[in-house]
Amino acid sequence: MNFDDCKILLEKHGQEHLLKFYHELTQEEKDCLLSQISKIDFELMDSLYKNKDVFEIEDKEISNINAVDKQRINKEKYEELGIAHIKNGELAVCSMAGGQGTRLGFNGPKGTFMLDLKEPISIFEIIINKLKDAYRQYGVLTYWYIMTSIQNHDETVKFFEENHYFNYDKEHIIFFNQGELPLLDETGKIAFKDKAHIFMAPDGNGGIFEALKCEGIISHMKQHGIKYLAIGNVDNILINMIDPILIGLMVEKNVELAPKSFMKPSPEGKWGVLCKMNGKLGVIEYTETPKELREARNEEGELVFGDAYLGCSFFDIDLLERIAIKKLHLHAASKKNIVLDNMENKKELNTYKFEAFIFDSFSEAKDVLVFRVNKDEEFAPIKNKEGDESPKTAIELYKKFYQLD
Ligand code: UTP
Repeated sequence: MNFDDCKILLEKHGQEHLLKFYHELTQEEKDCLLSQISKIDFELMDSLYKNKDVFEIEDKEISNINAVDKQRINKEKYEELGIAHIKNGELAVCSMAGGQGTRLGFNGPKGTFMLDLKEPISIFEIIINKLKDAYRQYGVLTYWYIMTSIQNHDETVKFFEENHYFNYDKEHIIFFNQGELPLLDETGKIAFKDKAHIFMAPDGNGGIFEALKCEGIISHMKQHGIKYLAIGNVDNILINMIDPILIGLMVEKNVELAPKSFMKPSPEGKWGVLCKMNGKLGVIEYTETPKELREARNEEGELVFGDAYLGCSFFDIDLLERIAIKKLHLHAASKKNIVLDNMENKKELNTYKFEAFIFDSFSEAKDVLVFRVNKDEEFAPIKNKEGDESPKTAIELYKKFYQLD
């Protein structure tokens, strides 16, 4: 697209400010800016801004789910079955590591964040240690797919290169990029990172499905006989993605999706909970859950809407393929980002970021089970710099579980 075409397009969508610095740029920067503009779906951005405040669960009928509780099943039976499938190389794992980690305030890929355990160790190395354990137990090298964003891809790969892939087989660690969308400022204008670059941000963890397909990961899985993919947040240092009990359950019960949950210790816990929305599995945010639902208890005294989503789900490959061609809803999140302000200074401002959520895909599954695990065994998230779900609390949980110190 040339300058004049871009100008017409931008005027149509009220985004003409994107050419404001054009004449100050070098020829290379000018070409690059026009190319960035030509890739943006302006109709989509208009509609996202227009609908940013639409309350998503309105009109949906909410009902409870019945989770399979790990404490109440014959673990040995399912474990044995699951191990056979794992030994057959049917399970791969995938870490979603494309997030910006704005709350943590760490200026790098979250997986490279260093924690002070016995010795300093990165989140990525903690995960790889689990893959090595699985190799020792089952004699299989598990494929590890790592979803990065275009912004943090190179730094992530460099980190692995510099650390010699932590002595894991390099061929079994595969990076792929998720998509991205422009950030909008509070008035709906596309934000600048600097005078030559539009501020693009990753399209949310729900961007994973399109990325798995477009980046050739689903094909790779097929070529290698992989039937199940455990997808998890990179920022949970107790995450258990190689879980033979759950694989055994999925096989035995013939389900194509199995998200993990843990029981909220009290109605106040601010996690999204698994529920049915119009009869289909979904996650409802704490803020959107009416008080009477949050506090409802069954005859055994358990919270009826108590299964918090743990940030880890097992998908079978057919389901992944079906979801990959669907368009998931894009939610608006208000996040602070350092953008160019009106005075052309870099400043931390409120922006709108548009994100798809992985759990919005759950409604596509025909047969599902929610696997309720013990929170202390599988959940030590790192979200915030301090306070709840910070590196400090995650380390405490990790040490408690592994009985370190
Ligand atoms: P969060 O929703 O906690 O987002 O991601 P975040 O980007 O890490 O942190 P904040 O909200 O900016 O503070 C849950 C998981 O999804 C991944 C994250 O890396 C984390 O593992 N994620 C999130 C992506 O891979 N891509 C995204 O676009 C967003």
